[in-house]
Amino acid sequence: MSHTDDTRGYQTGFGNEFATEAVEGVLPVGQNSPQRVARGLYAEQLSGSAFTAPRHRNRRSWLYRIRPAAQHSPFAAMDHATFHNRFDEAPATPNQLRWNPLPIPSEPCDFLDGLLTMGGNGGAAEQAGVGIHLYVANRSMEGRYFYDADGELLIVPQQGRLRIRTELGVLDVAPLEIAVVPRGIRFLVELPDGEARGYVAENFGAPLHLPDLGPIGANGLAHPRDFLTPVAAYEDVDGDFALVAKFQGALWSARTDHSPLDVVAWHGNYAPYKYDLRRFNTIGSIAVDHPDPSIFTVLTSASDTPGVANMDFVIFPPRWLVAEHTFRPPYFHRNVASEFMGLIDGAYDAKEGGFVPGGSSLHNCMSGHGPDAASFEKASGADTSRPDHIVGTMAFMFETRKVIRPSRQALESKALQGDYYECWRGLKKHFDPSAH
Ligand SMILES: [Fe+2]
Repeated sequence: MSHTDDTRGYQTGFGNEFATEAVEGVLPVGQNSPQRVARGLYAEQLSGSAFTAPRHRNRRSWLYRIRPAAQHSPFAAMDHATFHNRFDEAPATPNQLRWNPLPIPSEPCDFLDGLLTMGGNGGAAEQAGVGIHLYVANRSMEGRYFYDADGELLIVPQQGRLRIRTELGVLDVAPLEIAVVPRGIRFLVELPDGEARGYVAENFGAPLHLPDLGPIGANGLAHPRDFLTPVAAYEDVDGDFALVAKFQGALWSARTDHSPLDVVAWHGNYAPYKYDLRRFNTIGSIAVDHPDPSIFTVLTSASDTPGVANMDFVIFPPRWLVAEHTFRPPYFHRNVASEFMGLIDGAYDAKEGGFVPGGSSLHNCMSGHGPDAASFEKASGADTSRPDHIVGTMAFMFETRKVIRPSRQALESKALQGDYYECWRGLKKHFDPSAH
């Protein structure tokens, strides 16, 4: 057994043409697929976009590996009680929904075991939509590896660090950071802290991309140089392992006699990455009112309709609120889009209680929502000649074009708060036609 040092660092940039080798002199020069690759390796292309996609959307990497990815036993169907893409098993509801955090299980449970589908839309077959999942885990994945052919995985840790060992290198990810593992890339998840909980968006559509900045200009929001892609790191390990695939909504398992994380060198722009949400350059109003929450978009997956995203990943980070004569918390609204929210840390400024770290909420297309009664009363009486500093918080949203259809297990979960709607019942009628 041999492997490279995991901790040599990262390459910076978003969607760059990266090049990295764990053994010097492996990457071919001037071509991708030489007749004989250095050190007896195999060359393999991994394409994440159509071969003919426009250059700025074209994603592929060349992997130089000990054995090709093709070498494994046949896949057989595998059961998973809670991780799926069945978005039609319960009626889609216009009700506002909110859930408490899932408890960390007492039985042994790795990242793959601990995935639980909350809902979603679209699917792998149509290559559009999003699966929304939670995870809880209390042990590292051992002896098995996973890849998702259905979508890329946007992983949002809420509790506990993850060490994501991928074919293309190692991502160490802590709460307040995110990781993206592109469609098809094989990986396992280790838990340096022993326990972990978080959220996953499984994006069936176009790969996540940085949003355009329009009139903001060349800088702001998430900066490309803050995205970190691992350097090559490989395992040369023989044994009896499982390779688990998610394919068309179902799980499949094959045997392999070696670690699939055997890529010694690679180059290209199709690769996993991580990003520290604390580096987001948050932009807001310095006059009155709010920009729409799209101003907080970290990453977006384009749909076929210009300006309409398949999904957006949006955060609500610490920030100064300075708008005068303005109701400063997020406003009451209804959306054509559908919004699944999570809370990584602290409190969300539109909710005084009930939405706790590790919890979730869902406000579907045209379902009214906004600040709870306590937040409304406090903010409508606040002195807006002075700034507010929102600190120690990080909420996020998976916002999707299509309605998010909750899974049956989400609707029947003990974590579902049956009294969520009551947070708005205390909003008083203040209308007085004679008042000024
Ligand atoms: Fe909303």
